[in-house]
Amino acid sequence: STRKLLVLPGDGIGPEVMREVAHIAGWLRHHRGLALDIDEDLVGGASLAVHGVPIRDAVIEKAKAADAVLFGSVGDPAWGHVGFDKRPEVAILKLRQALDLFANLRPAQVFDALAEASTLKPEIVRGLDIMIVRETVGGIYFGEPRGIETLPDGSRRGINTEVYTTAEIERVSRVAFDLARARSNRVCSVEKCNVMESGLLWREVVTDLHKREYPDVQLSHMLADNCAMQLVRDPRQFDVIVTGNLFGDLLSDLASMLTGSLGMLPSATLGAVQDDGRRAALYEPIHGSAPDIAGKGIANPLAQILSFAMLLRYSFDREDDAALIEKAVSNVLASGLRTADIMSDGMARVGTEMMGQAVLRE
Ligand code: NAI
Ligand code: MG
Repeated sequence: STRKLLVLPGDGIGPEVMREVAHIAGWLRHHRGLALDIDEDLVGGASLAVHGVPIRDAVIEKAKAADAVLFGSVGDPAWGHVGFDKRPEVAILKLRQALDLFANLRPAQVFDALAEASTLKPEIVRGLDIMIVRETVGGIYFGEPRGIETLPDGSRRGINTEVYTTAEIERVSRVAFDLARARSNRVCSVEKCNVMESGLLWREVVTDLHKREYPDVQLSHMLADNCAMQLVRDPRQFDVIVTGNLFGDLLSDLASMLTGSLGMLPSATLGAVQDDGRRAALYEPIHGSAPDIAGKGIANPLAQILSFAMLLRYSFDREDDAALIEKAVSNVLASGLRTADIMSDGMARVGTEMMGQAVLRE
């Protein structure tokens, strides 16, 4: 059946790297029977310039109606001085909110040819392939009460509260367990149940859900501080990690550095399964609009290309096409081609277009 894809390139290098995805999508349509109905629209500074808002309601409606959204990146220094509601970055915040995208999937994968580029020793990261699942719409970033209060003595205090409900913990854990079944079948649930009530509930709920619905998956638990340490000491011990908003924010940034470059890392954010069986999903590289290199034709398109591969796998049920793209990326890296951000001695430096073309050829 024909899949509806909404493409939102955004600002800076967003449109540059998205162009390389378009070529690959076109090839899959012609050669592998991928039936796509692609719509494209403006977000971020690009939308502000034409429509006066970072994202139009009509675009949010299109995103809701689509089978998946492929997002580039938003952010443009030209709009740095405007009020919060008019900042380009509001586009992605609004989309996440409107689609209730509660589970952020961040793979940290090390391609063999890039093991030398890691901040860790190559022998510790070679072959690394982990997936961090972070809860994104709950937890301490959103919990009530919150605010800054002035006390009777004139001093002030800032308050945030970590709140997690059973339902919130269950839905993100289901995503992690389902993912694990299609990978190495292991989930590590991360919290701090030794000092936090929300962590205590988290561990209880994950344990119960596992017993009820996922007894075939190997489940372990780890305290968040230990997890940070273990990710650096021996990251390959993990398959899928599931955790809350705050710990997930920190651990996923930490894990991304194990792989070397921002320009290599895709992500997905998933919403709830609807009554009609569809699940809202947005795919984007973890990097931003990189205004410092925009327009120069040197951005690494691989994170955007790998985001499209994730989209094919998780939203379009096209595992073979996803694996084909990932294999092509791996082969291109093995052949020695490098964009500036992943350049090292003895390799051949190429720009955005040459890198995209090389993946297409593979
Ligand atoms: P950034 O990720 O855009 O850039 C950080 C550094 O990495 C820069 O030196 C950049 O040149 C380099 N870099 C990033 N992606 C690259 C690629 N594909 N190839 C080669 N080099 C790459 O983060 P920064 O500079 O903090 O933010 C720039 C703008 O992007 C800001 O307006 C920020 O708000 C926005 N942003 C948007 C995100 C989104 O759309 N989800 C996520 C992160 C930042
Ligand atoms: Mg972060």
